Amino acid sequence: MDESEKPSEAKRSTVGPPSVSAYLDPNYWNERFASEDHYEWLKDYSHFRHLIHQHIKHDSSVLELGCGSSQLCDELYEEGITDLTCIDLSAVAVHKMQKRLLSKGYKDINVLQGDMLNLSFADESFDVVIEKGTMDVLFVDSGDPWNPRPEAVNKAKAMLQGVHRVLKPHGTFISIAFGQPHFRRPLFNAPEFTWSTDYTTFGDGFHYFFYILRKGCKSLDADADADVKKVDTPSLCLYQDELDDEDYLFRTNIDECDDDQR
Ligand SMILES: C[S@@+](CC[C@H](N)C(=O)[O-])C[C@H]1O[C@@H](n2cnc3c(N)ncnc32)[C@H](O)[C@@H]1O
Repeated sequence: MDESEKPSEAKRSTVGPPSVSAYLDPNYWNERFASEDHYEWLKDYSHFRHLIHQHIKHDSSVLELGCGSSQLCDELYEEGITDLTCIDLSAVAVHKMQKRLLSKGYKDINVLQGDMLNLSFADESFDVVIEKGTMDVLFVDSGDPWNPRPEAVNKAKAMLQGVHRVLKPHGTFISIAFGQPHFRRPLFNAPEFTWSTDYTTFGDGFHYFFYILRKGCKSLDADADADVKKVDTPSLCLYQDELDDEDYLFRTNIDECDDDQR
C-alpha cells in the first residue's frame, strides 16, 4: 500500500513495553502518554464507522472507557454525536485529551479520570457505552485463554457489571476488541446480565471483533454456554494495512481462529 493511503495515525517511535504485564500498570500508561499524542489501538474510526452508525443515534449519551490518545470521540463529535463522556485511568491521558478537545473547541465533551472497574456514574446514565481495546488489556497476562486466571476474570466481571449498571434500560454496550467470541462468551452471557450478545467482524487478514450487547434484550433460552451470535453486516475495510508490532505483542495469548470454529 502506498504511504499516502495509510490512515493518519501518529505511530509511536518505539514498539511496546518489554513485557505485556506493563499494560496493567497505570505508570506504564502515564509514561507512555507523556510522549504520545495520538495512537489508535486496533483500527481507527474509518474502519468501523459503518457499524457504529447502526447503534449510536445523534442524541445518544455515550460513555467511552479507556480513551487513551484515541480520536474516536473527536470523530463521533464531528458526526454530530455530542453527548460524550470519556474516562481513562491515566491522569496524563485525561489531561492531554482535555487540552486537545478544548483546542478544537469541543468544550462539551467530558473527559474524566476514572477506573472502568469501579465506575462512578449513577445507574442508567448512558444510552451507549463503548470501548476499543480497553477490555483486552485485562487479559494480556491472564495465562491460558481457555482458562484465564481468576484475577483477570474478576476484573472483567467488575467491568461488565459496571457497564451493565450504568446503561439505560435499553442501552447498548459496544466492545471493539481482539478478544474472540469463544473467550468473551462466558463473560458476556453471565446470568446476571440482561443483554443480548451479538458480534460482527471488520478488517482484512486479521479480523477484529465488534460486539453489540443490548440491555434488556436477552433471549429467554440464553445461558453462559450459548454462542455469541454472529450477525451479518456488510464488511468494509478501507485499508489492507499490516498489523504493527505492538498489536502482535498485545494479543500475545490470543490465538487465531477461522470462521467455522466460532
Ligand atoms: C489499549 S489502550 C486503548 C486506548 C484507546 N481506546 C484506543 O483505542 O486507542 C487501553 C487504555 O485503557 C486505559 N486503561 C487501562 N486500564 C483502565 C481502567 N481500569 N480504567 C480505565 N482506563 C483504563 C489505559 O490507560 C489506555 O489508555
